Amino acid sequence: MRGSLVALTPVTDAVSQAVQTQYEENPYPRWTGFSWRTPQPFRDVVRERLPQLAEDKLPLTDNPRVLIAGCGTGLETMRVVSTYQTVSVLAVDLSRSSLAYGMRKLAEYGLSGVEHRQADILELDQLDSRFDFIDSFGVIHHMADPQRGLDVLAGLLDPGGFLFVGLYSVIARRPVTRVRRLIAERDVPPTPAGIRGLRRQIMLGEADSELSILASPASDFWAMSDCRDLMFQCGGAPVHIAPDRPDVCRGRAGVCRIAGPLCARLDAVS
Ligand SMILES: C[S@@+](CC[C@H](N)C(=O)[O-])C[C@H]1O[C@@H](n2cnc3c(N)ncnc32)[C@H](O)[C@@H]1O
Repeated sequence: MRGSLVALTPVTDAVSQAVQTQYEENPYPRWTGFSWRTPQPFRDVVRERLPQLAEDKLPLTDNPRVLIAGCGTGLETMRVVSTYQTVSVLAVDLSRSSLAYGMRKLAEYGLSGVEHRQADILELDQLDSRFDFIDSFGVIHHMADPQRGLDVLAGLLDPGGFLFVGLYSVIARRPVTRVRRLIAERDVPPTPAGIRGLRRQIMLGEADSELSILASPASDFWAMSDCRDLMFQCGGAPVHIAPDRPDVCRGRAGVCRIAGPLCARLDAVS
């Protein structure tokens, strides 16, 4: 499956190449089952999720063309196709391993209509297609310049299109920021041995007692790929969307929904 994937763009950016290496070695997220729900018309979902949106700002179509930018292993794709009816989906990612994982999982659910392509979002400004809805969850903060990524995605929207962006929450990420500092100080490698060693120290309380919260039962701490994504990933600095934007609606912690057209400004958070 991996070998049959078509590349839409080259991957030339140095940070993109490093991020690709990580997710080729450790596709994220590892997942097994999915609770399927009944998809609803696109306009109804947007109306429900953005109740403050004026009626004339709602999408014009119930058959949106959707780009999933940084689809990972398909869990986000499953969320999209189980939320919105009659979508036509292009799912892209840097990592061929993640794409192949997602294609295999979607096939298990009988979903064969999603187009999967390898691409670097930063190169997608070359793409001819435009989209009614772009979903990019947990992705652009991996870039050296997330604003560039956001601008590329905004440029791919049809006029009146919608962008759904998931960004790290500074508050939720505090223990992660702390462990990343410790990893840098101790130069812990992102290898299975390095990850297991640090995980053991955290579990035994030998690293820093405030890190024990990372080992909560539902955390990404427990599986190798997920733990690498949580604690060892390249890039991944918290950023937030400038608060003065009336077209930006904040959802649950750290997740922003942006109703377009837009060119929102991202602020780095130290
Ligand atoms: C933390 S995972 C999130 C995956 C998926 N969005 C989800 O929520 O399950 C981040 C993904 O973004 C992809 N990614 C990061 N930078 C990218 C870029 N410049 N172009 C395309 N994909 C990128 C990575 O390869 C990785 O699969």
